[in-house]
Amino acid sequence: MLNLCFQHLRMSTEPINIFKESLLPNSSYKGGKGKAEVADLFDGKKLYKLSSNENILGSSPLALQAIEDNIGKLSEYCDRTDDRLRHALSNYYNNELSANQFFSDNSGVSLLNLIERAFLEKGHEIIVCNPAFKPYAVFAKKLQAKVVDVPLVGDDLHLNDPDILNAINDQTRLIFITSPNNPTGTYIPKKQMDALVASLPDHVVLVYDEVYFQFVDAPDYVRAHEYVKQGKNVIGVNSFSKAYGLAGLRLGYGYSTEKIARYVAQASTPFMINTLALEAGIAALKDDAFIDKTVNLVNGEKDFLYSSLDQLNIKYWKSQANFILIKPDMNDKAFELQMLKEGIMVRTVANFGAPGCIRVTIGDREANTAYISALTKVINTNK
Ligand SMILES: Cc1ncc(COP(=O)(O)O)c(C=O)c1O
Repeated sequence: MLNLCFQHLRMSTEPINIFKESLLPNSSYKGGKGKAEVADLFDGKKLYKLSSNENILGSSPLALQAIEDNIGKLSEYCDRTDDRLRHALSNYYNNELSANQFFSDNSGVSLLNLIERAFLEKGHEIIVCNPAFKPYAVFAKKLQAKVVDVPLVGDDLHLNDPDILNAINDQTRLIFITSPNNPTGTYIPKKQMDALVASLPDHVVLVYDEVYFQFVDAPDYVRAHEYVKQGKNVIGVNSFSKAYGLAGLRLGYGYSTEKIARYVAQASTPFMINTLALEAGIAALKDDAFIDKTVNLVNGEKDFLYSSLDQLNIKYWKSQANFILIKPDMNDKAFELQMLKEGIMVRTVANFGAPGCIRVTIGDREANTAYISALTKVINTNK
């Protein structure tokens, strides 16, 4: 009987390739290493992880309490939808955006993937501005979209908006702008953003990644919701990983016009936000005290770090985020390894489009002092 069925299958005599070129090995983004992965590379000193822009103060206490309160519910399915998180977000944004203007996913990086899956098909184009967060390009390539790079320019690494506008064509769907930017820590002034948003054609969506917005103190910074409120094709991308200290929980959210938000949400899966992430996210949004403490610590440490880097004559870029990009006068991989041997994890960012540069998370005074003393040692040894 079974044989009879197979006789009806019409198969080519040639082997059929079932694997997509775009998913071949080494096509994925791996993110930074964890402490356990490097433990045997450094010689037993206390290890400071300054490589993934995490919160040195730990996690939002309100989020941790919510996790404790809900840990007993894991045998039950979580909410089918993210409705409760979206209402909490609307509230957090003073009801200036409705719950229907939000969507969420299991992290900022998943949210970026969701947005790209929603908008990109083979042959479409995206614009990125390197040095930039690598996943924008990695996900697009997997969807067989073309990645057009309009690099940041000048010693201050500013956005080249005239060239961005020139790079737009009928196939362009998404432009990725990050402010503050990873890995440079630089931001885009409001005037420049206003001009860019005003010039975009209707078929292009600007994905404005603002996952580090809490750390900004520049008076002319602008957030995505300014444009979303005006009905522009802009998506704000946010994460609970950084200021809320919930990187291991994996929760991110976006917002846009209701039309775009509900459209992107169609590409997501049911039960996508687990019980603990949903409850912790809702609780974290109320934790202004923890955000203030985090931001005060990070921004308070910047002067110490800038003056230490000045004294060591190391090139760096002033940062609006919780990390500082430096360019030591030595090979970046060798630098990373030698710092690790001193107990300091830092991140090379050549794959983000910043060859020779190193991104270092801002820690507390103890971590920063350990970082600067390791840096001094490594620089002096390599003179
Ligand atoms: C610019 C930027 N966007 C998005 C993310 C995603 O963060 P997560 O996936 O931890 O929410 C990161 C993380 O480093 C980032 O630097």
